[in-house]
Amino acid sequence: MSTSAERISYNELEELIIWINHIHGFDFRGYSRASLKRRVTRIMDMYGLQLFDLKGILVNDHSFFEEFIVQITVNVTEMFRDPSFFRSVKEKVVPYLSSFPRVKVWNAGCSTGEESYSFAILLKQEGLLDRSFLYGTDINPRVLEVAKTGVYSLSNMKQYSENYLLTGYPGSMSDYYTAQYDAAAIHHELKKNTLFSVHNLVSDEVFNEFQVISCRNVLIYFNSDLQRRVLQLFYDSLCSFGFLCLGAKESLRSFDSAGKFRIVDKSENIYQKIG
Ligand SMILES: C[S@@+](CC[C@H](N)C(=O)[O-])C[C@H]1O[C@@H](n2cnc3c(N)ncnc32)[C@H](O)[C@@H]1O
Repeated sequence: MSTSAERISYNELEELIIWINHIHGFDFRGYSRASLKRRVTRIMDMYGLQLFDLKGILVNDHSFFEEFIVQITVNVTEMFRDPSFFRSVKEKVVPYLSSFPRVKVWNAGCSTGEESYSFAILLKQEGLLDRSFLYGTDINPRVLEVAKTGVYSLSNMKQYSENYLLTGYPGSMSDYYTAQYDAAAIHHELKKNTLFSVHNLVSDEVFNEFQVISCRNVLIYFNSDLQRRVLQLFYDSLCSFGFLCLGAKESLRSFDSAGKFRIVDKSENIYQKIG
């Protein structure tokens, strides 16, 4: 049993995970337990629910399950998050991209879309946007609705503008959005080749072939077995000599990459498919 302060024990969490998989077909078994426990506790606190009530409402109210998915995922993101990553893409990946007739970019776990639009700006700066297509996917349909609108809070743009300047690109972030009251609307030219849709990295399959896959700040929520499966999915989804961009926090550690990938940037964890 858990104490009321603890809300849910690790054993109860295991039961809940199996139960959700049976009822809703969402498989959280490969997620890090510490983060899941925090999120479930938060949901129970928000709605004032005990575990018994939470199970009842999850089975009877489909819209609550949607809310549960929204709340269980961590959706923090920024435009040009970790500017050194984008500098590395610019210096070490872009020179190869010109040799591909089409550039398809997959942002897996794109949250509210800022990362996809950052890539769109980078490709525009490099004169590649017209022959590029950007796919942003996420497990959480609610964040994808925001991504599709491309409208963000104007107050966030200050941080995003600072990030943009650190990428070393000319001009400013404000060249890419129109301010309307307290909102910033991303320009249509960045949206027209961008598509957002639901894709679950745990259970969904290869859906296209990509020149670039970027998946940052997502694998940290997965255990090493699930990381391995997702990295295999990325390998299978890349064209020959395509690039996998994981960012500073994640690497190919849990994947047998020998003969499959070469390291392009060790600190930003950017790899090129070679096998
Ligand atoms: C912290 S955000 C990262 C956003 C962006 N990539 C970045 O680095 O700023 C993690 C995202 O991964 C998504 N996610 C979690 N599990 C997923 C899964 N199984 N399949 C697809 N996306 C998932 C979450 O919904 C969330 O939007």
